Amino acid sequence: MTIETSVLERYSAGAQSVQADLCCPVDYDRSLLALLPQEIIDKDYGCGDPSRYVKAGDVVLDLGSGSGKICYIAAQLVGDTGRVIGVDMNDDMLALARQYQAEMAEKLGSDRVTFLKGQIQDLAADWAALNTYLAQHPVSSTEDLLSLRAWQSQQRQTAPLIKDNSVDLVVSNCVLNLVHDSDKAQLIREIFRVVKPGGRVAISDIISDERVPAHLQQDPHLWSGCISGALQEHDFLQAFIKAGFIAVSYDKWESQPWQVVEGIEFRAATITAIKPAGNVCTDKGHAVLYRGPYSEVYDDEGHVYYRGQRMAVCERNYQLLTSGAYGSDFIGISPAQEQPGKPWDCATGTLRPVSATKNGVHEDKCPPGGSCC
Ligand SMILES: C[S@@+](CC[C@H](N)C(=O)[O-])C[C@H]1O[C@@H](n2cnc3c(N)ncnc32)[C@H](O)[C@@H]1O
Repeated sequence: MTIETSVLERYSAGAQSVQADLCCPVDYDRSLLALLPQEIIDKDYGCGDPSRYVKAGDVVLDLGSGSGKICYIAAQLVGDTGRVIGVDMNDDMLALARQYQAEMAEKLGSDRVTFLKGQIQDLAADWAALNTYLAQHPVSSTEDLLSLRAWQSQQRQTAPLIKDNSVDLVVSNCVLNLVHDSDKAQLIREIFRVVKPGGRVAISDIISDERVPAHLQQDPHLWSGCISGALQEHDFLQAFIKAGFIAVSYDKWESQPWQVVEGIEFRAATITAIKPAGNVCTDKGHAVLYRGPYSEVYDDEGHVYYRGQRMAVCERNYQLLTSGAYGSDFIGISPAQEQPGKPWDCATGTLRPVSATKNGVHEDKCPPGGSCC
């Protein structure tokens, strides 16, 4: 049995009856569960609660939406100006989630949730459209195969399942580990492609403390049980950084392992990250001051911030560092006077002279311990 067929079979069974060994205890917000049908709550195979990061008005994409629980919770949080899309490759799970769509639309006051069939590592490919094509054009020769490939390429370009830069928040609950290792980098690139510049991700998943050895990875039951496909805790973060995300962090990290196999600890964690809001970095004289407690910190783009110093930043980074993505670690200091803006050409680690960030007449002197910009 391949990993893919084992994942399909395991979650088809999970759609039909509750599979206790696939459950990992999660504390959801009870007030948001109140609206959900009991079957959706019972057929929960998540390991965290990424819906906590949903904001009103968001377009939310849930990868591996299963019974639809996170989608229906998110639908309450996005309100009537937002939208929620769940993607899953399993027909039985999609049928379960869609079974309650009309009931939930009535309770919510609008039909703001859609479930789509696709593989999360290829969010351009529309599997429902592919099924229709295959029904009309069965593949029985190499020529048919070439026609299919041409159709797929056209479909991806003209009608992708999920468009580029179209989602405010990508969430996922216990699914990335199920994707074959050879597809994991593509999966995270796909997440990057569909998130809007400045958009966010919040992914709950199972991670391991050590890399999982090949003999465990080849066990289809351990794989489909959300264990042996888990990324090692450092590799998981690095995969998002490599794809171009910034502010990548563990927001939740369960100290108690969910399972221990051959001494390797598997635990639930939630990471959050941001897609940078474009590459235009304009210098308008902004500064940020890092509060501490560390003597210096680096961001995912290699900029250094010294504790207690007015660090020169471009307007884009100023917005990012003071937006809440970094908690309250940075104090934003606006330029003393509105400046027209020039292309950013300061080296990382340059300071802003105090005079540039306060009103009045002051000597344009660089503070001790650094070069100024
Ligand atoms: C562990 S369950 C989690 C379901 C749901 N997120 C929850 O919180 O209950 C994994 C789900 O991801 C789906 N899935 C697994 N691999 C997938 C893939 N490569 N593409 C799309 N869906 C996938 C499965 O069909 C299943 O519904």
